[in-house]
Amino acid sequence: MKILNNAIDAIGNDGSITIQTSIKQDRLCIEFADSGPGLPPEHLQKIFDPFFTTKRPDKGTGLGLSISRSIMQRLGGDILAENGKQGGCIFTVSLPAAVGAGFPLSSTPLKGKPAQG
Ligand SMILES: Nc1ncnc2c1ncn2[C@@H]1O[C@H](COP(=O)(O)OP(=O)(O)OP(=O)(O)O)[C@@H](O)[C@H]1O
Ligand SMILES: [Mg+2]
Repeated sequence: MKILNNAIDAIGNDGSITIQTSIKQDRLCIEFADSGPGLPPEHLQKIFDPFFTTKRPDKGTGLGLSISRSIMQRLGGDILAENGKQGGCIFTVSLPAAVGAGFPLSSTPLKGKPAQG
């Protein structure tokens, strides 16, 4: 959601946002590519820092990406940012494919004796 908000801010009135999902090995990846101006190389490392923003104080707090990335990391995932070959930004959210997919439940042996009869 925060990534989409940023993309909407970046693309102006006639831009585009493309969302692609894929499974890479044991990870679920969601890629958000926008047609905005992209990120200056010196900002690429800073955009996940708390309170880093290039927006006006009434427009951005600089917390969106920092909080989103720490949530994803706590779930065993991550968020990566890069510039697209055709311009614009690409944000990739990745999560372990097994999170919430029932893996621990379905692999837990049932306890107790089977019913007699
Ligand atoms: N899609 C994007 N295109 C260009 N720059 C981006 C994009 N997404 C993020 N940025 C840059 O990263 C900075 C940090 O983003 P972040 O979402 O953390 O904070 P914010 O959008 O400024 O404020 P808020 O806390 O309200 O989200 C932005 O101010 C902007 O400079
Ligand atoms: Mg934001």
